[in-house]
Amino acid sequence: MNLIITIDGPAASGKGTLARLLSESLNLLWIDTGLFYRAVALEILSQQLDPSPKNAAHIASQITAPVIPSSQLRETEVSKIASCIATFPELRSALLPIQQYLANNPPQPYKGAVLDGRDTGSVVCPHAHAKFYLNASIEERAKRRALEQNTPETQSQEHVKKDLQQRDLQDSQRSHAPLVIPQNATVIDSSALSPEKTLEICLETLVRMGIMPS
Ligand code: DC
Repeated sequence: MNLIITIDGPAASGKGTLARLLSESLNLLWIDTGLFYRAVALEILSQQLDPSPKNAAHIASQITAPVIPSSQLRETEVSKIASCIATFPELRSALLPIQQYLANNPPQPYKGAVLDGRDTGSVVCPHAHAKFYLNASIEERAKRRALEQNTPETQSQEHVKKDLQQRDLQDSQRSHAPLVIPQNATVIDSSALSPEKTLEICLETLVRMGIMPS
């Protein structure tokens, strides 16, 4: 069986950490779908292209493997462009078959795939064996993101919080594939949970669902 698990949720909710831990525990290919949008944004910036739906879709069509994480992909300018182009239906349609193909055909020795993003349980893999929706309070998410960016001062945290709120709005209000709690998803609030505890809850859920032996 090719096991498919999806994790959706807002920015800085801990999706990436949980996806990595799950991929390591269960030997699953980790597909960070946000990186695809970031990779397209970086290419647009590097080639000094107009961030149009056509250019974005063309660049996306050339992606053939999960995008390798890098610090460049996390830069502020890349994040801004990624957030903007993620609203283009043309780009989402170009990325959809690539993400679906990778989820359904992970290379050996993987036993399946874990995807994280905004629409992985609702659009990319609506028939996933298990779906999780990870959330955390805006304060906790801002704290985590500020720490990640090495900017823990109160003023910076306030700035990070506003930035996250703006992205939440953009991600959940776009007309195409907005951030939603997918049908049948298990919702986890990670505000007061360590990454290890969050993983434990997920694994317990998989056992309860009969997906994993106890
Ligand atoms: O999760 P992230 O911050 O790396 O995502 C980068 C951008 O891509 C963000 O603006 C949301 C968008 N995104 C999306 O629209 N759908 C996904 N499945 C994943 C990310």
